[in-house]
Amino acid sequence: MSLSEDTLHEILARLPHDRAELLPALDEVNSRLGYLSRPAIESIARHLRLPVREVYGAATFYSMWNVSAAPVEVVHLCDDGPCHAMGAAAVRRALDQAGVEVKRTSCIGQCGCGPVVMADGRLYRNVTSRTVQAVLSGKEPEPLPLADEVIGIEVEDRAHALLQNVGQINPQSLDEAVKAGAYQALRKALTTMTPEQVVSEITTAGAQGRGGAGFPAGLKMRFTAAGAKSTGGQAYVVCNADESEPATFKDRILIGGDPHRLLDAMAIAGYAIGAREGYIYIRGEYVEQAELLKHSIEQAEKAGYLGHTIMGTGFDFHIHLHRGAGAYICGEETALIESLEGKRGEPRLRPPYPTTNGVNGRATLVNNVETLYNLPGIITHGAAWYRQYGAEKAPGTKLYPVSGHVKRTGCLEAPLGKFTLRQVIEGPCGGMRDGAPFKACHLGGAAGAMVGPGFLDVPLEFGACMAAGAMLGAGDIVALDANTCVVDYLRAVAAFFRAESCGKCTPCRVGTERQIQIMTDLSSGRGTLQQLDEIISWSELMTDSSFCGLGQTASTAVVSGLKLFREEFEAHVRGECPARVCRL
Ligand SMILES: Cc1cc2nc3c(=O)[nH]c(=O)nc-3n(C[C@H](O)[C@H](O)[C@H](O)COP(=O)(O)O)c2cc1C
Ligand code: SF4
Ligand code: FES
Repeated sequence: MSLSEDTLHEILARLPHDRAELLPALDEVNSRLGYLSRPAIESIARHLRLPVREVYGAATFYSMWNVSAAPVEVVHLCDDGPCHAMGAAAVRRALDQAGVEVKRTSCIGQCGCGPVVMADGRLYRNVTSRTVQAVLSGKEPEPLPLADEVIGIEVEDRAHALLQNVGQINPQSLDEAVKAGAYQALRKALTTMTPEQVVSEITTAGAQGRGGAGFPAGLKMRFTAAGAKSTGGQAYVVCNADESEPATFKDRILIGGDPHRLLDAMAIAGYAIGAREGYIYIRGEYVEQAELLKHSIEQAEKAGYLGHTIMGTGFDFHIHLHRGAGAYICGEETALIESLEGKRGEPRLRPPYPTTNGVNGRATLVNNVETLYNLPGIITHGAAWYRQYGAEKAPGTKLYPVSGHVKRTGCLEAPLGKFTLRQVIEGPCGGMRDGAPFKACHLGGAAGAMVGPGFLDVPLEFGACMAAGAMLGAGDIVALDANTCVVDYLRAVAAFFRAESCGKCTPCRVGTERQIQIMTDLSSGRGTLQQLDEIISWSELMTDSSFCGLGQTASTAVVSGLKLFREEFEAHVRGECPARVCRL
């Protein structure tokens, strides 16, 4: 396929000569042409008045784009932890045998239904070596309604649940969203509260960030509001919907089932910190969710819930949608801001933090999708109401995306600390599949730790998990049964970090490469005992001296797995795979 000069001209003519338009321009050309040709890159550079090398730098940074024509028939297979645990390697062998070009892709946010294959623009879930032929013949994939991905809302009063409307309302309908309560909280905030009162209510509620670090949401708002005052009053709200960490798929469910609640929350946050503009940065693979959000923003603007003088109050708030293009690092808040500004998504040095120096150098509040979904409830019902659920030091409910070897995978919502891992597995998940005993759990996403049976009775709450030696992170649970080879599983985790390291700093760039080399050696019978020590020393180096959180946590899973299952690693050095998974 070739893109004519005229078409290219037509695409570029619609875009202002603004650097922030670089990613949208590259995305459109890539989707129309199938790749980013040299002449297209040069035209974009001319239009945006950027050096060609910068455009080329961005074009090669994001995995959803190609700079050379891709083979006609490529099948994309996810082989990150949860999909690998569910048999992605066997699917790969079947695809190879069928003579198809297979491209590994990082997680695409469907981890409860792995292995996942993308072919010809279609998404196939729960693929096995037996169903590969159906994929190759272009058979329409089975739909999976969002409601079926919710495995439980364990909250007595449904009004407290973040998932309260998912599967209950038509997400395309503003009327249904409004009947279910959308924009009531925003109206209350704008008509009865000062911005300081909004910040104060959220601080008293004790809501913590759900993006992984659990940072107090009210405190971050306070810092950003102060940052906005010190930088001339301009500020931004950024919703982090990048959700690219293997095992995480909760934000997709919230957005897909109840998009207006996110817009309601962002406008409340904007009012609180003095921002008039907000951005939703959504991962490029979430095409349907991005379209839904675009539609919802248009609806809300038309109805006066967003835009100029919202509900006649004089408060203006505009939301812009920005799509990523395949890079896990863009979930890191400073890399996300770089990407929003039209650059390669490489993290910035912190401090200064986004609360004072974020988008365009202005104060910026970056919050995770799930964090924001907490705001309307707090504003409508008050902090005391919010604190009725959850733990004393970790109030509210939490979404737990569950994948791996349980009978029912999907997203669970429960008050923080109410459930232990055992209760999640035995309750909403219906137990381990095929009666195989539990062996381990990878908790908190790819960057989280491996935990063993000794962790089964720890309450799933930030502090309790940390005290027991693992971070709850975004709440992800990958349950692994006794047939799992820990070395093989962790090789897939190491491959993810090697693929996603942005390469800006040496400890992470080299460390993630060395980590995957060692894990590959171990899982193919070439490993040595010295390499087990090397894993630890590389981990110390990466943790202590990497530039950002990706490198600092890239070895957490491997090292915790080595500590818990050292005898299994040593067996591999002797040429034995106790689970008989690795071909040694
Ligand atoms: C490598 C990396 C990837 C991240 N990915 C995400 C992500 O996809 N979504 C998210 O909300 N936070 C992600 N974070 C955390 C963000 O940097 C940031 O802390 C978060 O968006 C703040 O929101 P919260 O306070 O509401 O939790 C990531 C951090 C790192 C280091
Ligand atoms: S730690 Fe890794 S991801 Fe982060 S800046 Fe360094 S190379 Fe990039
Ligand atoms: S979709 Fe495969 S790990 Fe998430």
